[in-house]
Amino acid sequence: MVVRVVVNGVGTIGKRVAHAVKLQDDMKLVGISDIAPTPVLRTVLEPDGPLYKTDLYCSIPEMIENLTNAGMYVKGTLPELLESGKVDVVVDATPAGIGAKNKPMYEKYDVKVIFEGGEKADVADVTFNSFVNYEDAIGKKFVRVPSCNTTSLLRTLWALGQVCKIDEVFVSLTRRAVDPWEIKKGPVNALVPDMHVPSHHGPDVKTVMKDLDIKTFAIKSPTTLAHVHVVHVKTKNPPSVEDIKNTFNKTPRILLFKAEDGYNSTAEIIEHFRDILRPRYDMYEVAVWDETISVMKNDIFWAHAVHSEAIVIPENIDAIRAISGVERDKWKSIKKTDKSLGVK
Ligand SMILES: NC(=O)c1ccc[n+]([C@@H]2O[C@H](COP(=O)([O-])OP(=O)(O)OC[C@H]3O[C@@H](n4cnc5c(N)ncnc54)[C@H](O)[C@@H]3O)[C@@H](O)[C@H]2O)c1
Repeated sequence: MVVRVVVNGVGTIGKRVAHAVKLQDDMKLVGISDIAPTPVLRTVLEPDGPLYKTDLYCSIPEMIENLTNAGMYVKGTLPELLESGKVDVVVDATPAGIGAKNKPMYEKYDVKVIFEGGEKADVADVTFNSFVNYEDAIGKKFVRVPSCNTTSLLRTLWALGQVCKIDEVFVSLTRRAVDPWEIKKGPVNALVPDMHVPSHHGPDVKTVMKDLDIKTFAIKSPTTLAHVHVVHVKTKNPPSVEDIKNTFNKTPRILLFKAEDGYNSTAEIIEHFRDILRPRYDMYEVAVWDETISVMKNDIFWAHAVHSEAIVIPENIDAIRAISGVERDKWKSIKKTDKSLGVK
């Protein structure tokens, strides 16, 4: 079976998911859909772009002239495409809150949907992480892939959970202010604490790891490269530092970087991904600073970096396999996805 996928909303996440779908031999990108002739949409459809020759649809029929008047060739509208029965799975990567508004359209045409982390958890039957609950998404109608911060915490805490029982987690998040291309948001010269305590990240992790006692506190900082988390875990049976490094090393999509090798900051880590010629310097992996992994009595600590634009892409691809039922074995899906994307 080849899963027929359309991506609705071709921005930061949508353009990457659409490109990643094209790299899978068990998926076919039947189209992309949007409402605005953004520079991103134009670029990805250019002859040199990663989505060249992909059929473009307009998500809202009344807005088709937005695209055609801008000189874009539009094959039809998204409702028409969904009605044709040629789509198995929609990945809705529209801005936060629009996915929930689109849901009645998806229900009308009886199509399966992956929503992104900007949507509230109740938009979907299950919030997904490849390692934690792949099986729960198999055959479901609506699945949500949570945000970048949540995905990094789910991966690392799942890995840690293989070597100890986690009693309590506290995470301090320093968030990148905006995606690099955004010019309208800040801060430019300030650190901005999130006044909601706990920040939404802890409750979001709990939509997947339901019994986890986790609290998070977030601060926005004027950088675009990556988020940094300082994680503190309490346990009654602490593993050794070596055990933690081993479980992180064994888990796909987690990489250890050493300050000793020159990786002291997000800048040097991101530079690594530029130098290995990753498309758009996408870092699909969670980058854990090796030297920060510490055990002090019953307390475990580490710091990791998260590339917000890229980290959720492998989980989106796995989620398509799970929701469509094309692959029921999570490890097979993870392996296939990672090979196609060049994940280390
Ligand atoms: N940007 C990130 O770093 C990041 C990381 C993880 C998760 N997410 C989540 O992914 C989702 C998408 O975010 P993004 O950053 O890619 O957004 P974006 O603003 O970069 O792109 C959104 C795209 O959707 C289009 N769009 C707007 N309204 C639409 C509609 N009604 N129908 C179809 N298309 C429409 C826009 O024209 C744009 O091309 C959100 O839920 C967000 O929270 C974002």
